Amino acid sequence: MKAAAISMLLLVCAAAVGACGSQGVSVATTSPYHRGAVLFRDHCSGCHTLSVVGAQGSATSISNRVKTNGPNFNIRKENPEQVLYAIRNGGFSGAIMPENIVVGQEAKQIAEFLAAYSGKSAQKVPATNITLSTK
Ligand code: HEC
Repeated sequence: MKAAAISMLLLVCAAAVGACGSQGVSVATTSPYHRGAVLFRDHCSGCHTLSVVGAQGSATSISNRVKTNGPNFNIRKENPEQVLYAIRNGGFSGAIMPENIVVGQEAKQIAEFLAAYSGKSAQKVPATNITLSTK
């Protein structure tokens, strides 16, 4: 009886931990970006939107936006240096996003993940090459 109760408890724990591990994250567990995706979901999704991790923290409409709504990374493309800068300095303005929510290796993993997965729904804007003259 006791053994049965214990194994039930263990099962429940395993299920809970499993759910906690990668819920909402659709980056494969075998992907080198999976860890960064989970870290992003845990630390950044409250204020940023990114569908690959189920994050919906950005504003959806101008009428219900709040100060902490950060850029939507489905649309905004970032490179790793920009993400590390934002993590260290609290966004680009330093006004709203907290600084150093993650540091070291974890910050790097988030930066690499975000650089790879941000901007997937960015609009393609036609570009014209302009040669600037220095004369
Ligand atoms: C409390 C809310 C909040 C949290 C948590 C948060 N951010 Fe932000 N973030 C913002 C806001 C608001 C801005 C826009 C203002 C600014 O850049 O200062 C922003 C800006 C950014 C930018 C600059 C984007 C651009 O192109 O303008 C990046 C990159 C960024 N955040 C990444 C992250 C990452 C990575 C995490 C998790 C480690 C995170 N944020 C957690 C609120 C947040």
